Amino acid sequence: MEFPFDINHIFSDRISILDHTLVASRQSAVRTDLQDQIAAVVDELGRASAKAQQLPAPITSASKLQSQKHQLYLMKDGESNRGRGLVVGFLKVGYKKLFLLDRNGVHVEAEPLCVLDFYVAETLQRHGYGLELFNYMLQHQNVEPELLAYDRPSNKLLAFLAKHYGLVRSVPQVRFQICLCVRRMENRFPS
Ligand code: ACO
Repeated sequence: MEFPFDINHIFSDRISILDHTLVASRQSAVRTDLQDQIAAVVDELGRASAKAQQLPAPITSASKLQSQKHQLYLMKDGESNRGRGLVVGFLKVGYKKLFLLDRNGVHVEAEPLCVLDFYVAETLQRHGYGLELFNYMLQHQNVEPELLAYDRPSNKLLAFLAKHYGLVRSVPQVRFQICLCVRRMENRFPS
């Protein structure tokens, strides 16, 4: 995903972490014009993700990120686009208070870390970028994939989780269409 400005100028790391401050990780403050560019990148990513998932409206935007306690992991390819860099994709996570159904159909209150939005640019999908982003987030959050909740997982995300982590949908939820993928496929991934 190309932008009319130098991506390497606003994102120094291969994976940057953005939060409500809309400042890339390792930067304590940025100039307003750079923050505008970060906002433009987040908005464009949100629109592309919504389109890929056929959602009526983006669930990720700069203004939403500024008003919520979510973290957005943004991946760039710094070398492409004649050294100006391009944006590969993003992964957004955050804690959500949920009433979940357990295996017996009983509601339990929990506040798990949720995967809220996840997108890799169309032409770059199935090249391992999603896995790199996801693994980075797991390490940064110090969490295992089976302990996360997945908000309205797409078929591609379900295939991704099954392939890379041996997770299959186990307890579909009624509200929020949250899915807990806590069961590993025993045959493929013996413990
Ligand atoms: N069809 C089926 N499975 C797919 C597809 C696809 N078009 N694309 C990726 N996958 C799954 C497969 O398991 C694939 O393995 P395979 O190629 O051997 O079949 C695996 O993901 C590939 O892994 P990566 O290359 O590491 O993943 P990728 O870089 O493609 O990123 C992602 C995965 C983010 C799901 C990407 O496919 C994407 O952006 N999809 C469109 C948006 C989307 O559906 N996002 C999830 C929304 S749900 C949520 O965020 C809670």
